[in-house]
Amino acid sequence: MMSDRYAVIGNPVRHSLSPGIHAAFASETGEDIEYGRLLGDLEDFNGDVRDFFGHGGCGLNVTVPFKERAWELMDELSERARIAGAVNTITRLDNGKLRGDNTDGIGLVRDLVQNHGFDFSNASLLLIGAGGASRGVVSPLLEQQPASLMIANRTAEKAVMLADLFGGRGEICGCGLHEIGSQQFDLIINATAAGLKGDVPAIPDTCLTSGGWSYDMMYSREPTAFVRWGEAHHAGKALDGVGMLIEQAAESFFIWRGVRPHTAAVIQQLGRAPLTIT
Ligand code: ATR
Repeated sequence: MMSDRYAVIGNPVRHSLSPGIHAAFASETGEDIEYGRLLGDLEDFNGDVRDFFGHGGCGLNVTVPFKERAWELMDELSERARIAGAVNTITRLDNGKLRGDNTDGIGLVRDLVQNHGFDFSNASLLLIGAGGASRGVVSPLLEQQPASLMIANRTAEKAVMLADLFGGRGEICGCGLHEIGSQQFDLIINATAAGLKGDVPAIPDTCLTSGGWSYDMMYSREPTAFVRWGEAHHAGKALDGVGMLIEQAAESFFIWRGVRPHTAAVIQQLGRAPLTIT
C-alpha cells in the first residue's frame, strides 16, 4: 500500500526544513507517511492545491506567500485559522472537503513556554510588525493572558488596525515604532520582514527590561539580525524561530495523524546541524 502523502507548498520552497522535520516525526511515532516539497505556481496556487488533493494527497503545509490565498480557498476553517486570516495547514476530510487550520501561533507559544520556560503572567509584550505573520500570533499570545501586548509597526496605522481587530481582549494597543519611546518589555517578538534584508526594525535601544527576552520569528543558519540585536542588548534569551517552526509542524502532524510527536530530539538535531536535515 502507498504511504499517505503530505507536502509543503511555497514559492520558493527549496530550502524548507519541513520535509526533514516531518520525516523525523514519522520515524519517531512510527507513522507511515511521505512528505515532499511543492513549488507553488504564483499565478495558479488554487490549481496546484486541487491537483495535489485530486491525486490522493492527504494534507498540505502552506508557506510564504500562499497563506492568505489558502485561507480564501478552504471549504472549512478552524476558529484559530479564521481569526488569523491565514492558513498554514490543509487537511482533506473524508467527505473530500478541504479544512484549513493555522498552527503558527500555538507553535510560537509552545516554543516559548514549553521549550524555553517563558512565563507570560505579568509579562509585557511587544510585537513588532503588522503583516500576516504578526496577525497570526496575536490571538494565541493574548490567550496566555500577558499583562499587556503592544503591536508596533513602521506604518503605525496598520498596527492600530490590527490591535483594533482584537480590541476588548485584554491590554492590547497598536502604534508606530517611533511611539515606543521609553517603554520597556519583558518579551519583544520580531514579526517583520526586515530580517530578509539583514535589517532590524528601528526600535529604541532601551526597550528590553533587564533580563527581558527577544524572539525572532525568522530563522537562518547564522544568527539572524534580530537575534544579534537581542544579544547586543543583553536579552535574557535571544531566540530565533526554529523552535516555532518545529512546534507548528508538530501541531500539523497531530491534526493529520492524531499523534503528538516529541519535538526535543528534532530541535536538538536542527540546532546542531541545520543542513543535515532538509
Ligand atoms: P508578512 O505576511 O510576512 O507579515 P507583510 O504582510 O509584507 O509580510 O508584512 C511585513 C511586515 O514587516 C510589515 O509589518 C512591515 O512594515 P510596514 O507595514 O510598515 O511595511 C514590516 N517591515 C518590513 N521591512 C521592515 C523594516 N526594514 N523595518 C521595519 N519593519 C519592516
